Amino acid sequence: MDQLLVALDVDTVNDARRLADALRGCVGGFKIGSRLFTSEGPRFVEELASKGDRVFLDLKFHDIPHTVAGAVTAATRLGVWMLNVHAAGGSAMMRAAKAAAAEEAARHSRPTPLVIAVTMLTSLDQETLGEIGVKDAMTSQVGRLASLTQTAGLDGVVASPQEIGLIRRRCGDNFAIVTPGIRGAADAKGDQSRTLTATEALKAGATYLVVGRPIIAASDPRAAAERIVAECQQPN
Ligand code: C5P
Repeated sequence: MDQLLVALDVDTVNDARRLADALRGCVGGFKIGSRLFTSEGPRFVEELASKGDRVFLDLKFHDIPHTVAGAVTAATRLGVWMLNVHAAGGSAMMRAAKAAAAEEAARHSRPTPLVIAVTMLTSLDQETLGEIGVKDAMTSQVGRLASLTQTAGLDGVVASPQEIGLIRRRCGDNFAIVTPGIRGAADAKGDQSRTLTATEALKAGATYLVVGRPIIAASDPRAAAERIVAECQQPN
């Protein structure tokens, strides 16, 4: 299922490769985040991309525009399909990210990676917003940053299940919404407090779902992924 992205949140390339090999053909791509990337580096990103896998490089770049552009150029050279930045870096930083992705992809005659932004991390609450001087409600801040992302020409945002509707209404249909926090009715929620099932998230307007532990910590990851795909394909 193209819309299902699996978070390879493990420490070693061996574990990540075993998961990718087990899941290839059943899921739409693999998310590599700061844990695996910091442990094992960029070669595994290239390895998956060279096998034709769609790789979402989740490193949430947030720096001055020149530095972010350099990091995005490097990620694009690895052959990633999607990458992300923090919307709080501002529109100049986001435009620089998108331009760098387009230029480097053109240099390699590849499609430009999707560049998306994190609005507000779901670990932040109203109190943490106050700590950093944001007085608006969380939903206003998320909406504002989603619009800024769209105006800067990016392809979409990462959004919690609760934010999908708000962003879809505000940014329209032609804007990717990538949603983690997906759990089945019987899954352990772990540290995810606000969750939806995969079907509910797609119905709410998510474009892509990011699922980690319900698949990678299952005794049979392929069977767990197939269950999610089957659930999504059931007629209502
Ligand atoms: O294991 P689980 O399904 O909770 O994994 C979700 C993935 O999505 C993790 O890689 C996590 O870092 C990421 N993520 C998240 N919430 C966000 C942004 C990213 O859970 N708001």
